[in-house]
Amino acid sequence: MPNAELSQQGRSVDDVIADLEAKRVDDVKWEDGRAFGMVYDGGPSVHEVAERAAKIYLHENALNTKAFPSLGAIQSEVVGWTAGLLHGDGAAGFLTSGGTESILCAVKAARERAKAERGIEAPEMIVAESAHAAFHKGAHLFGLRLHKTPVLDDWTVDVDAMASMVNDNTALIVGSAPQYPQGVMDPIPEIAALAASAGANCHVDACMGGFVLPFAERLGREMAPWDFRVEGVTSISADIHKLGYAPKGVSVILHRTKELRRYQTFVFDDWLGGFYASPNLQGTRSGLPMAAAWAVMQHLGVDGYVELTRQTLENADTMRAGVAEIDGIRVLGDGAFHLVAIASDPAADDPIDVFALGDALERRGWFHDRQGPPDSLHSTVSNSNTGVMDDYLAALRASVEEVRGTSTDDRSTNYATLE
Ligand SMILES: Cc1ncc(COP(=O)(O)O)c(C=O)c1O
Repeated sequence: MPNAELSQQGRSVDDVIADLEAKRVDDVKWEDGRAFGMVYDGGPSVHEVAERAAKIYLHENALNTKAFPSLGAIQSEVVGWTAGLLHGDGAAGFLTSGGTESILCAVKAARERAKAERGIEAPEMIVAESAHAAFHKGAHLFGLRLHKTPVLDDWTVDVDAMASMVNDNTALIVGSAPQYPQGVMDPIPEIAALAASAGANCHVDACMGGFVLPFAERLGREMAPWDFRVEGVTSISADIHKLGYAPKGVSVILHRTKELRRYQTFVFDDWLGGFYASPNLQGTRSGLPMAAAWAVMQHLGVDGYVELTRQTLENADTMRAGVAEIDGIRVLGDGAFHLVAIASDPAADDPIDVFALGDALERRGWFHDRQGPPDSLHSTVSNSNTGVMDDYLAALRASVEEVRGTSTDDRSTNYATLE
């Protein structure tokens, strides 16, 4: 197919915007609360403050904070507030474009530290099979050998298996709080102790949990320690563009100390352009997501986040309880927070094909990602789903009855796509 041609003379603003609006017709209707993931809706006033901040910073470039000192201040304030929430007294970090970039920065920092402090030339890292794909991307890009460990029956990582893979080249051991596929918390204290005994970094992937767990704790939810209160944790990633309710393009990477943070940065002056220092993987970086995140965090404050988290957990609990009442499906694991994986119940007389179920739900306008193994429907529940859970459960019950006794040949999973 020939490439489309750019119009010669350009088009009017109204025309262009109308076309963009029309393009969205098949996009998931997240505004109606019908998506369990991808977009997290903090409500009208959060939209307003983000949009107004975005408008101010639409064109600004955070590459050079000498030219844009306001973005330097915005970054350090957002990082500082996040460090405070995660009990990182003395922690230092940067803003990145998202969870993947924060994780890549953590992998790079672990590699540099292992080389500088322990002379390791062939660094290795250990992650659970439930750890996010971004760690594999990091191992690939930065040349670390990756060991993948199994999870136990409760979907948490097998720390004994991790221990058996530790050797003199271990630069990084990873735990998730919580992990994405089933939403359970890895045992961070044990992972951190293992990493410390090996002299390695311990990264906690709280991309999902970083802006939920601190507020869930304030709401009285029990959880094992997972943040900088755990000795041996050297870095944490926490995504503001997920349950921090900022628009896309912003995450925080935190290191326990400024000394550990310096392994992440890149400084260079041996070219014709002068001194070049960059905190993360980007060069030019948009000020928009940084300013919008600053504005959203300021607007919500701790009380606002506690309320959004209360709603989120109520929505997730409603989903878990509803699934438990339906014959043929079940929730995987005992996740107590906002991630829910719906799978077929092998103990039922008539187990449901959850991919056929996902299709039936989609026909009713509800969207879950398909994941596996094992085949399951992923849900990142959030405040977006407030007020629609009864309708969702009605659709779930109807969809289960529709597909009972049937299956689909399409076994594909779809977390992310190329085009
Ligand atoms: C636990 C966890 N880590 C990392 C990521 C990657 O984040 P991003 O998609 O912002 O790059 C995700 C995304 O869902 C996640 O759930």
